[in-house]
Amino acid sequence: MAILSILCYPDPRLHTVARPVGAFDERLRQLTRDMLETMYDAHGIGLAATQVDVHERVIVIDVSEDRNRPLVLINPEITWASEETVVGDEGCLSVPGIYDGVERASCVHVRALDVHGQEFSLEAQELLAVCIQHEMDHLLGKVFVEYLSPLKRNRIRSKMIKRQRDEARA
Ligand code: NI
Repeated sequence: MAILSILCYPDPRLHTVARPVGAFDERLRQLTRDMLETMYDAHGIGLAATQVDVHERVIVIDVSEDRNRPLVLINPEITWASEETVVGDEGCLSVPGIYDGVERASCVHVRALDVHGQEFSLEAQELLAVCIQHEMDHLLGKVFVEYLSPLKRNRIRSKMIKRQRDEARA
């Protein structure tokens, strides 16, 4: 297993649209294992392949308290979303230290494949629903800060660029 490096906003590669997974092979299983390890190591609750510069429709999630319920979604599709929405403070491993409110459907139904190519569906509510929508946005090249006002987004962009410059210098 390996810890993968996570792209940081405003890296343009975060805006790549992921392609569907075609081969359910050992390479894919290794990728999902590495993504889970990377997510746990970074204390995140979700990670999309886009964030580790792999542009395929793969996300990993674990919203459990004990960090022992990994969920892997390959080629996920939202088949239903509630009209009822929630606004929660979201964060992202690609935008460290930034949290802000984003409006999301409070409940979604998702269809996806597992690492063996087996289809399954799930109904997600609350934190899991929000997390799935956040991670699926990554696969479309969208980072949550793009829901914020241009003013806030520009501030975040400058902050991230400055931070990356400081880190490169250190
Ligand atoms: Ni994210």
